[in-house]
Amino acid sequence: MSYNYGKNLNITLYGQSHAEAVGIVLEGIPAGEPIDMEEVKTFMARRAPGGKLATSRKEPDLPEILSGIVEGVSCGAPISAVIRNTNTRSGDYSNLKVKPRPGHADYTARVKFGDAFDLRGGGQFSARLTAPLCFGGAVALQMLKRRGIEIGAHLLAVHGVKDTPFDPVDPSANLHAAAQNPFPTIDPKAGEDMAAEIEKARMELDSVGGIVECAVTGLPAGLGDALFGGLECRMAPMLWAIPAVKGLEFGAGFGSAELMGSQNNDPYTYDAEGKVKTTTNNHGGVLGGITSGMPLLFRMAFKPTPSIAKPQQTVNLATGRNDTLEVTGRHDPCVALRAVPCVEAAAALALLDVLMDNNGTL
Ligand SMILES: Cc1cc2nc3c(=O)[nH]c(=O)nc-3n(C[C@H](O)[C@H](O)[C@H](O)COP(=O)(O)O)c2cc1C
Repeated sequence: MSYNYGKNLNITLYGQSHAEAVGIVLEGIPAGEPIDMEEVKTFMARRAPGGKLATSRKEPDLPEILSGIVEGVSCGAPISAVIRNTNTRSGDYSNLKVKPRPGHADYTARVKFGDAFDLRGGGQFSARLTAPLCFGGAVALQMLKRRGIEIGAHLLAVHGVKDTPFDPVDPSANLHAAAQNPFPTIDPKAGEDMAAEIEKARMELDSVGGIVECAVTGLPAGLGDALFGGLECRMAPMLWAIPAVKGLEFGAGFGSAELMGSQNNDPYTYDAEGKVKTTTNNHGGVLGGITSGMPLLFRMAFKPTPSIAKPQQTVNLATGRNDTLEVTGRHDPCVALRAVPCVEAAAALALLDVLMDNNGTL
């Protein structure tokens, strides 16, 4: 099922951009887990639009808990949270039924669902669905943190401007820098330059893409399995469900193809406590689909926002002729900016599911 994820957890996302609401149902969260709602809201605020570099569709994005959490503690029943859509302008989308936006899902969704497709705001393909994803992720992040596992992401690159990358062997010093800075980079100067690049694209009625880098510390060695049970395989469907993702690489990723074996292999060593470590981390914390105990490291490429105001070539499905389109409405000039917490959330949910492989327990 496209809207479900999980082996031990059963995670369902629902809703459309301009429906009454979007939401999530999280089945399998054990009873007795404290959930700090203030922390949840702080995390979700990182994804919510704000400032001129994001869509002007501003919504409070406050989750209403319908079930599963009683007096701040999970009770063992499915956790259900709903987020109302309060700021919709469906008229902005009326012409897209016949003139599909290049780069968006308008055409492919129409082929699949026909005229009944709810195209308003991008329907179920909209990044609105990442709001409930971030709610679920915020819950998972708290559960993982209690078990010594921490996740942090930052905007590594935007249109040629690069942030300081994580130290692959020990990313802990900068793990939460992006969450603490006003712009989600480690280096504030890189953030300023990226902001200028995004603003330039917006002024030119265009958009830019970006790369999000994510690191996870504290994962024990031995999680995951061979073949389809591999950690990368388990994470990929969740990570790739974030809209606009066009690339995912673990460790040295595509760069490893350029290296010699002697450069790419990470030498083993015993640390001061007698634990097996590697002196470098080109493997990104996973070998044979199983965690090595080194930090998990991955990067995701986000394409430029498809909805741009610049005139573009498209087809007119009503007239059967080629046509042009200038997209109106409210759009992010760089989706990668708001995707940073979405990546942390998706990673947290996927890793919580993997961590529960031991008979669904933690
Ligand atoms: C946080 C975030 C915000 C996004 N905002 C927009 C937007 O404002 N306008 C838009 O056209 N696409 C936006 N997208 C991307 C589209 O949802 C996505 O490109 C579209 O659904 C097609 O899916 P695909 O790119 O995965 O093929 C956003 C994606 C993310 C992750």
